[in-house]
Amino acid sequence: MRTKITAWILVMFFVFVLTACGKTEGYADDDVHNGGQSGSESQAENVENKEPEEAASDTATSGQPGAEDTNILIAYFSRVGNTDFPADVDAVSSASLVRKDGELYGNTQYIASMIQQSTGGDLFLIETAEKYPVDYDETDEQGMIENRDRTRPELASHVENLDSYDIVFLGFPNWYYDMPMAVYTFLEEHDLSGKTVIPFATSGGGGFSDAISEIQNQQPGAVVLSDGFHASHSRIDDVTLQDVQDWIDGLPLSHK
Ligand SMILES: Cc1cc2nc3c(=O)[nH]c(=O)nc-3n(C[C@H](O)[C@H](O)[C@H](O)COP(=O)(O)O)c2cc1C
Repeated sequence: MRTKITAWILVMFFVFVLTACGKTEGYADDDVHNGGQSGSESQAENVENKEPEEAASDTATSGQPGAEDTNILIAYFSRVGNTDFPADVDAVSSASLVRKDGELYGNTQYIASMIQQSTGGDLFLIETAEKYPVDYDETDEQGMIENRDRTRPELASHVENLDSYDIVFLGFPNWYYDMPMAVYTFLEEHDLSGKTVIPFATSGGGGFSDAISEIQNQQPGAVVLSDGFHASHSRIDDVTLQDVQDWIDGLPLSHK
């Protein structure tokens, strides 16, 4: 009888471990929310008529901003764009990949694409000169070492026409309860003084951590808004264009 009970406890333990390891890849799950304040209400849960398929379009291009006349820059870091993924990479079982209408997006890139649709701003991928490994665990390890050593990965490109932007949406995944070190390189190599900086982030549960105050420290001459947009990686699919639009509409921007 005792053997049976022990076996049953073991089975339940393995079921629990397998469930917990699902799509969260090691990080406690959280909600889609804005503000980076813990315990804030999920935006996605409040929005009806979700149409995630409409959320991203083919606008999530990377590289230099386009020729359109806009004063809005959307600069973001994401695994997609910084990793040479094979075309058939499995987005379903990965926490940091989204596939919409056949297109592969990184989580932060996906939110960036919705901000682009909403604002008409220029997208700019914060791209490192060296790609990250395709293997998630290897990237995790590299991110950990970079964070520990406060590395400044070299960037592949810079925003050339920075003067033409008044508003900078700045997006990144939470890496080791911090921003990826490449975002620090970006902040050190681009002077955002006089601009309004609006953070957005995706994470496995850590939210913004201290990123918003860190951005302000790095850019003392910029106005960094505290009500950034955040989405958990397990709920990226729930974020709609309307969520993003509502957040942007509520921002204190004088020159939208
Ligand atoms: C190197 C690395 C470190 C991470 N560290 C954290 C962390 O400390 N806290 C957290 O909540 N999520 C962490 N994550 C999960 C990512 O923040 C999350 O999956 C994010 O949505 C990925 O965005 P992306 O697809 O745009 O790269 C980490 C992921 C990687 C690859």
